[in-house]
Amino acid sequence: MQQLLRSMRQSSIIRFFEHFAELFPDAHLKDLTVEEILPDRQMVVAGQVVTNFGSDSFLGLDQDPRVLEAIRQGLQRWGSHNGTSRAFSSVRSNLVAEEKIAHWLGTEASIIYPSVTLANLGAIPALVGKPDLLVIDEQGHNSIQEGAKIARANGTRVLSFSHCDPVALENVLRQAAPYRVGVVAIDGVYSMSGAIPPLAELNRVAQAHNAILYIDDAHASGVVGTKGRGTVLDALGSYENTLVIGSLSKGFSCAGAFIGCSQEMKRLLKMRSNTYLFGGPVVPAYLDAICLVCDILNSGEYELLSARLQANLQRLNQGLRRLRYRFQGGVSPIVSVFVGDEEATLRAGRFLFEEGYYVQSVTFPAVPYHAGVLRIQINANHTSASIDGLVNALGQLPGVIDMPRDECRRAG
Ligand SMILES: Cc1ncc(COP(=O)(O)O)c(C=O)c1O
Repeated sequence: MQQLLRSMRQSSIIRFFEHFAELFPDAHLKDLTVEEILPDRQMVVAGQVVTNFGSDSFLGLDQDPRVLEAIRQGLQRWGSHNGTSRAFSSVRSNLVAEEKIAHWLGTEASIIYPSVTLANLGAIPALVGKPDLLVIDEQGHNSIQEGAKIARANGTRVLSFSHCDPVALENVLRQAAPYRVGVVAIDGVYSMSGAIPPLAELNRVAQAHNAILYIDDAHASGVVGTKGRGTVLDALGSYENTLVIGSLSKGFSCAGAFIGCSQEMKRLLKMRSNTYLFGGPVVPAYLDAICLVCDILNSGEYELLSARLQANLQRLNQGLRRLRYRFQGGVSPIVSVFVGDEEATLRAGRFLFEEGYYVQSVTFPAVPYHAGVLRIQINANHTSASIDGLVNALGQLPGVIDMPRDECRRAG
């Protein structure tokens, strides 16, 4: 065992993390323990109350009494877990949730997986075989990259293309031909930058080269597009050439993931996704909560929640523009403020924490080297005062670190 631990410690990623933790022991706000969750997105960490700007619970539904009650009733109905793969049986709520998701999304069917990671690890290798081609955006989420590794190990040719670049995709597909069928896997919202890809152009290129788009829309589910259906339908007008993957834990504040697809694709994925066949399902009580959230998204209430989220997002964006900071995102509720240097990014996060605001400092390997960002996640139940307070604290950063500014952006 000692030898195993020693050899694990030699891996480059562990050496990198340990090096950072040693270099910046006071600034390295990772692996935190949350002691308590308070109202208005506050939480207690290491005895300090901070406002949490690091949660994907974009609509604030994690604190909604109706969601909590649905989980409570689900526990009474199904117990803590049904303890079987869905290949053998599913609780009724699983089927109802899949119907409700498909109805909300506008697809013929949907299939629920326990997480987006498990959806990508199960579905991507299930879609392609030896004669096929899998092409992934070079900055696609880690779970897409891991799914691609399994596909490659199974004999599928796997290539990548430059981030969000339809011309690069076209070149890759043209040069790779011939292949039986192509799958192009991308994120609908890039989770570290908040960037949204040019879906219409990418789809046009994919269609012209006998390929479908596989879009991991995890960060858009429930929060971007009409009724929160995500990026795809509004951009493309139909799901004809796409598979859309969504999250049930982020905007939904429940648990799990879905793939929106045809009935036939669902039938095939059930037989060919190893994570579906050989793993357990979403905890049944959460399926009842997913049904409830679908009803909320399909009702007029969604507009109210979305308006609150958009107002908060605008408030932050305006503040960042006044500061002339360089930032990306702002269509989805993820806003990445560029810092650059790794140490400066960590020190900025520590400073904000001490001022009472928790924001994730994101550095390599989650973003390219020397492209560190402060990743701010806006939620519908952040108060205006907390957003103003965060902007005020961000405004003090130039006294703490060398903060890059956008010279082209005029103040005011
Ligand atoms: C694009 C994308 N895909 C997948 C995931 C992982 O989702 P899950 O936690 O459901 O596995 C994330 C997590 O943030 C993500 O941003």
